[in-house]
Amino acid sequence: MKIAPSLLSCDFSKMGEEIRRMDKAGADWMHLDVMDGHFVPNITFGAPVIKWVRSYTDKPFDVHLMISDPLRYIDDFADAGADIITFHVECDADIDATIDKIKSRGIQAGLVIKPNTPAEAVFPYLDKLSLVLVMTVEPGFGGQSFMADMLPKVSAIRRECERRGISLLIEADGGIGEGTIQQAADAGVDVCVAGTAVFKAPDAAKAIAALQAVH
Ligand code: DX5
Ligand code: ZN
Repeated sequence: MKIAPSLLSCDFSKMGEEIRRMDKAGADWMHLDVMDGHFVPNITFGAPVIKWVRSYTDKPFDVHLMISDPLRYIDDFADAGADIITFHVECDADIDATIDKIKSRGIQAGLVIKPNTPAEAVFPYLDKLSLVLVMTVEPGFGGQSFMADMLPKVSAIRRECERRGISLLIEADGGIGEGTIQQAADAGVDVCVAGTAVFKAPDAAKAIAALQAVH
């Protein structure tokens, strides 16, 4: 299992050092949660912050946009050094145009679905995507409980991809830790985001290794 620590749970006063700490601890990707206070009821950081911390690791930056109008900001996140950009199918922007814009910048595009959104919402776009992110909590905050009832959506997306001969990664985000990751793996998740479980662990390297060992 690939593990992407969510920087939402880090000490923002030393975000660069926290990224370096996660890199040394063996993280596969860095997961950066961008929130606009409109699409979700929380505000975090934007492209300028990502640009400043980009140099602290060579690991891929997985930028999760929880914003109403992602299309308007794709160039900013591309310039800041994003490797993967995921945005919500529930947003206000034109979905196809946003995917095309991300790909035109040489970045991998992914779509995210909230807990109340069915798996079928991403089916029309699967052949254009590198990744689908299934939220296993309501987006907005770290430290929430894992919603195991989201996992059938992972299986449904996997089945649909297999049926159409599409290969993409499925990522899960929210409430993932040692007690829940096996269920995600069993459902066919390839990449797990983990905030609290990694940042609040006494030994981040140990925590990441334990999560990666699941398959
Ligand atoms: C929630 C974010 C998640 C969150 C995960 O809106 O998308 O990435 O930080 O945090 P934990 O692992 O603590 O649920
Ligand atoms: Zn996230």
